[in-house]
Amino acid sequence: MRISIVGGGYVGLVTGTCFAQLGNDVTIIEINAEKVTKINKGHPPIYEIGLEDLLKQNAGKKLRASTGFEAIASADIVFICVGTPQKLDGSADLSSIESASSSVGTALKNNLSYCCVVVKSTVPPGTTEKIVQPVVLKTSGKTEHEVGFAMNPEFLREGRAIEDFMQPDRIVIGSNDLRAGKHVALVYQGISAPVIHTGLTAAEMIKYTSNAFLATKISFANEIGNICKHLGIDVYEVMKGVGYDPRIGPSFLNAGAGFGGSCLPKDVSALVSLAKDAGENPVMLQSVLTVNEQQPFRMVALLEAKLGSISGKRIAVLGLSFKDNTDDIRESRAIPVIRELLQKRAYVTAYDPMAISNMRQVFPGIEYCSCAADTLAGSDGCLVMTEWPEFSRLDKEFDQMAHRVIIEGRRILTCKGADGVCW
Ligand code: UGA
Repeated sequence: MRISIVGGGYVGLVTGTCFAQLGNDVTIIEINAEKVTKINKGHPPIYEIGLEDLLKQNAGKKLRASTGFEAIASADIVFICVGTPQKLDGSADLSSIESASSSVGTALKNNLSYCCVVVKSTVPPGTTEKIVQPVVLKTSGKTEHEVGFAMNPEFLREGRAIEDFMQPDRIVIGSNDLRAGKHVALVYQGISAPVIHTGLTAAEMIKYTSNAFLATKISFANEIGNICKHLGIDVYEVMKGVGYDPRIGPSFLNAGAGFGGSCLPKDVSALVSLAKDAGENPVMLQSVLTVNEQQPFRMVALLEAKLGSISGKRIAVLGLSFKDNTDDIRESRAIPVIRELLQKRAYVTAYDPMAISNMRQVFPGIEYCSCAADTLAGSDGCLVMTEWPEFSRLDKEFDQMAHRVIIEGRRILTCKGADGVCW
């Protein structure tokens, strides 16, 4: 199929590259000219395992990027993959969705065949029907018989996005008309997974509900972990025993410093905001966020309980990205931890295999080291924030600390004497 993807960010780039790999003809439309040049040269502007290989194989052949919307004139399907960032009140900012819809509609005027406009961005229920559809129809001058509309949420994890795209658990296609739903399903023909057809708003809600449930599992594990910590019980042993129940499942029960990233915190906040607008008081979702906000501070409190005042002390922070295998620091739990350490006048040294340059923009004044050993040397305490595999091999490096006080926010270390935030 001829596919246009509006937005060459994380979701758009992975989606476009994978669709090209499956044999489709893909154009990524991206306003940032620098990104367009990089994509066309086969250099992904973001880091994602396996992406560079696939992009190199397809750039200039089955895949190209452009700042213009011309490709839409011959597209069978257009995916909208623009950002829906969090506004100050927690709700989703839909301004990029509106402007993308308007540009797509204008470009569709020149498309003489049936085309589907598919929203892949995470959007509040009603957005596709009440914003995208009317804007596209108005700017294109077309009817619902000429343009179909669908909502097809993504379930891509950073660090595993290619695998999640190629071997998904399910493909959700929301549409209010049969033809559009069938048309979108065609593009996934090469992928073996259950296809779930729903209405537009249900598909939009499935995405929020999935991320909210995942976040709930983590905050639940963290709350149990916080109780276990007082009782001297290992929460990982507990969750292993609990996760064998198929009604619960073993994944996403890893307690620690809380969830970060560009999706879970933002999507739970948006759902809270949606609930409030609907006159609900979403106590459970709010608690999920509250547990998550407090969890990083427990690490600093534990450090103080062992070291006394940390003012003037040298504290090593290992891991800055929100999880391993990414340079993404959005909502990383390392951010509130470093902020708190600085507020308490500690001297912070930090190391991450990939995320230093991103974190330098948030905290330009702390000391960044080129390896974990240098970060630890002479430090009075260490906080492990990200589950990078290389940290699990650290052992003798901790002997170089002035005081061997090690607090883990992720269960990763194999050395002796580390203390977990909730185990
Ligand atoms: C998340 C979802 O997992 C994807 O399914 C979804 O498509 C994506 O958001 C999205 O909406 O685009 P992602 O943000 O890449 O994916 O990262 P996760 O693997 O979900 O991890 C999120 C955070 O939770 C990380 O900080 C991680 O360390 C933490 N986490 C995860 C835990 O603290 N405990 C766990 O058991 C699992």
